[in-house]
Amino acid sequence: MHIHQLRIQNFRNIREASLDLTPGVQLLIGRNAQGKTSLLEAVYLLATATSHRTHNNRELITQGETTAFIEAEFDRDGSRHRLSTGFDSKERRFRIDEKPLKRVSDLYGILKAVFFSPEDLEFLSGGPIARRRTMDLGLCQQNPPLVRVLLDYRKALKQRNTLLRQADASITTRNLVKAWNPELIRLGTQILSQRADYTLKLVEKASDYYASITGSRENLAGVYRSSMTHLAWRKGGEIPDEKDLKRYFEIALEETVEKDFLYRQTHAGPHRDDIVLEVCGKSAERYASQGQRRSIVLALKLAERDLLTSPNDPPILLVDDVTHEMDMRRCDRFLENICSSGQVFLTFTETESHRGLIKNATEWHVQDGMISRRSG
Ligand SMILES: Nc1ncnc2c1ncn2[C@@H]1O[C@H](COP(=O)(O)OP(=O)(O)OP(=O)(O)O)[C@@H](O)[C@H]1O
Ligand SMILES: [Mg+2]
Repeated sequence: MHIHQLRIQNFRNIREASLDLTPGVQLLIGRNAQGKTSLLEAVYLLATATSHRTHNNRELITQGETTAFIEAEFDRDGSRHRLSTGFDSKERRFRIDEKPLKRVSDLYGILKAVFFSPEDLEFLSGGPIARRRTMDLGLCQQNPPLVRVLLDYRKALKQRNTLLRQADASITTRNLVKAWNPELIRLGTQILSQRADYTLKLVEKASDYYASITGSRENLAGVYRSSMTHLAWRKGGEIPDEKDLKRYFEIALEETVEKDFLYRQTHAGPHRDDIVLEVCGKSAERYASQGQRRSIVLALKLAERDLLTSPNDPPILLVDDVTHEMDMRRCDRFLENICSSGQVFLTFTETESHRGLIKNATEWHVQDGMISRRSG
């Protein structure tokens, strides 16, 4: 999968850009605050309708303008497609091959991308919400129908929580709350089993990368911990089948209903699950050093790339600022790994020496939101 042509209008500080791209490595070189991250953000927004920096369209549109536009012509499975998004401060619309996408959830899987960014460290420091979000983004690109399931689950959960917030715990309210259980259970078990399965595969791959980064001196393991009390899975553990999961979920909802009324929110369900990573048997969230944290998130991202690779077709990699705190040896191995992966966008500031490690790249100069091909 690779982008041939990328067009951007009024996105962050990029007023107008049109890039003819090659299938391999694209180096984006420029001083600080020139638009390098913005370009990667534009590509990721087109692929997933999300930005790692904001939920607010307003911030994405160039100040003083009212609309922004991003379009990519790309090759997938031997045929060419055109994907675009246009948006104002309220609404985002997507088109694939000139046809409007009815729902943003239909976008997933069309243009697959993995973003490596310094903010990835949030996976360890940002709590379960950040971890679930990362898991779900990777999983939805791999398994697009799950987007709909997640959205429907969120809606059902919201309805149930709204009822819980109503002051009384009368029989009528209790019955109304309970009436949402079957829908939560139906959707929630799909999320739970797919997310747990994805997480275990991801951690298994990531632990191989982690071993290679650390020269096998350290090991990484992970557990998927379900909010349905007694359930947690690690590598080799079998995820219960759907029938059993439904039963566990039903029991958990019954067990926590008093707590739900007390705190006015739903306690059992995949919206409360977590992924616990361990380095050498100790919680990474609590004990990992800075260097270990960086290595863990890189290993996870490389694993995400592998899981998103359909036979011989890796996703587009957007690699922002992740190499500048790495030592040369580690950096060399990382760059070698990602640069053999297909189309890769890498940002560098003018001064970084690691850039010399990359061969055969197309170089782009980014200055004040303008992007031009560097020659020689
Ligand atoms: N909506 C917007 N309108 C105009 N300019 C914006 C908007 N949002 C961000 N900017 C500006 O765009 C510039 C480029 O930001 P960006 O994060 O892309 O820089 P960068 O090249 O990645 O820099 P660094 O090397 O420091 O990471 C910044 O000066 C930022 O303030
Ligand atoms: Mg940047």
